[in-house]
Amino acid sequence: MSEHLIEIKAVRHAYQTASGPLPVLDGLEVAVPEGGFVAVVGPSGCGKSTLTRLVAGLMKPDEGEVWLHGERVKGPRATVGMAFQNPVLLEWRTILKNVMLPLEIVKTGMSAAQQEERARQLLALVGLEGFEDKRPSELSGGMRQRASLCRSLVHKPEVLILDEPFGALDAFTREDLWQTMLKVKEEEPFTGVLITHDLRESIFLADQVIVLSGRPARTQYVMDIPADRTGTLDDLYTPEAAERLNILRHQIEIAQGRAPAGEAA
Ligand SMILES: Nc1ncnc2c1ncn2[C@@H]1O[C@H](COP(=O)(O)OP(=O)(O)O)[C@@H](O)[C@H]1O
Ligand SMILES: [Mg+2]
Repeated sequence: MSEHLIEIKAVRHAYQTASGPLPVLDGLEVAVPEGGFVAVVGPSGCGKSTLTRLVAGLMKPDEGEVWLHGERVKGPRATVGMAFQNPVLLEWRTILKNVMLPLEIVKTGMSAAQQEERARQLLALVGLEGFEDKRPSELSGGMRQRASLCRSLVHKPEVLILDEPFGALDAFTREDLWQTMLKVKEEEPFTGVLITHDLRESIFLADQVIVLSGRPARTQYVMDIPADRTGTLDDLYTPEAAERLNILRHQIEIAQGRAPAGEAA
């Protein structure tokens, strides 16, 4: 059995469209060890969200394999938690009840009291203590995204998939959430895949950054981030961070076809 919790091997996929097949993935390789947090960056429309649907078992690739915890992914799995750019919170439910939603679908063996306790603990962890009884519209965008993060974790998923979760937030709110995210990861260890178009976000949060090529996406470049972070924004203002961002920016330019692949960063 592989030591990787998530493994995507030689995946190829094309969508069937009215104007013929649209190849989106061609030679995608991703391997995430248990407890690992991988950021995936790449040009808009290259196939990043398609990758998340594969891991979640929401679609099957034309070719190649997707493995989760030593099992071939064949259909949707309750053990995957997801959060997106626009958190879909139900307005007729309180924040607490929104966070508890997955527990109504996934069997966890927790009693009703334990379920509520867990949801309250997560909300406190992300700084939403005191907002449990509010409705989604009473919260700011950043607070809604915090609640959405709690909801994606409440059933203790094996894998957390975040598809540009902070993309719609202003820069300061986003940076606050990055720090919350690291705190959550420490308290509630998970194996994660973060889709983002923000290179600073990728190096701040992830322990590995994967750059995808333009469509059809293949794994173009992989960068390991050493575990020497302080968890504060200072991490982004070191010479090492500047060097990493420079390399990644260059890789994105290659992926976008704006720089030749051979040229050094
Ligand atoms: N269900 C679908 N049917 C046809 N084309 C699709 C479908 N989903 C996505 N696409 C197309 O596939 C490409 C990759 O989409 P996506 O994975 O959402 O890219 P990304 O998340 O990197 O922006 C895009 O060109 C998109 O328009
Ligand atoms: Mg997308």
